[in-house]
Amino acid sequence: MASLANGHIIIERRRAVQTIRMNRPDKKNAITRAMYAAMAAALQSGDADPEIRAHVFFGVPGAFSAGNDLADFMAVAMGGDGGQEVWDFLLALAQSEKPLLSGVDGIAVGIGTTLNLHCDLTFATPRTVFKTPFVDLGLVPEAGSSLLVPAVLGRQQAFAMLGLGKGFSAEQAKAAGLIYDVVPEDTLEAAVLTAAEAVAAKPPQALKIARDLMRAPREAVVARIREEGEHFRERLKSDEAKQAFVAFMSRKK
Ligand code: COA
Repeated sequence: MASLANGHIIIERRRAVQTIRMNRPDKKNAITRAMYAAMAAALQSGDADPEIRAHVFFGVPGAFSAGNDLADFMAVAMGGDGGQEVWDFLLALAQSEKPLLSGVDGIAVGIGTTLNLHCDLTFATPRTVFKTPFVDLGLVPEAGSSLLVPAVLGRQQAFAMLGLGKGFSAEQAKAAGLIYDVVPEDTLEAAVLTAAEAVAAKPPQALKIARDLMRAPREAVVARIREEGEHFRERLKSDEAKQAFVAFMSRKK
């Protein structure tokens, strides 16, 4: 087991399955730059290791992820550098050579939702809500979601999700084809790990070819991530975004 990014990312390898766990419960698993860097490195080293045959993403009970750390966004909005770690992670995700699975419980905001678009099997619990409030934050969709969500949901549901920031329950997400299954909280991780073991037991070369054939052309997704990134970096410095970040930071609870 490896504990990275101040213990906020925990990597475990069980037989042929590598588990990448976001572990920052006090901030609902908001993802920092160090966490992105640790997750990108884990994907790349797992891809390079012939003994690893599947990657699994987990969060903590009640919080898969509240999305990008808004203090990090605020730092960029105020003139800091562009936070390259985010984009490196997104490209590592889109280009991952091995099957990706995820187990989502509870909060799944921003990249906490869009990460799953790159997964081959996502399980979620009944209390999970998938939500992408990019536009409310003065931002634009990322992680290739502007391409991948309309392809799954159709234009109008995609607009509701990515334009209006409408939350999708786990059941809605399953019915729409965004995720594979809905399972109770207490069996979530076992269900995902059982599926990951089944994936890992398949002939890896045949599964890789089958997976590559089923996925949208990788170049198109990568190109869209870069295109979104150009807008996103601009938008981070916009007045609309700054106002949204200040409102979050100064909200009364
Ligand atoms: N970035 C930084 N900190 C975050 C965060 C984020 N994205 N999401 C939550 N946190 C922090 C909160 O500031 C709070 O910190 P504090 O205890 O030091 O004040 C802590 O995590 C717990 O969050 P809280 O808002 O009290 O939990 P909640 O259960 O009431 O609400 C959310 C959870 C996810 C609905 C709410 O925190 C939220 O809207 N977060 C922002 C989500 C977002 O816009 N992400 C960016 C998407 S691009």
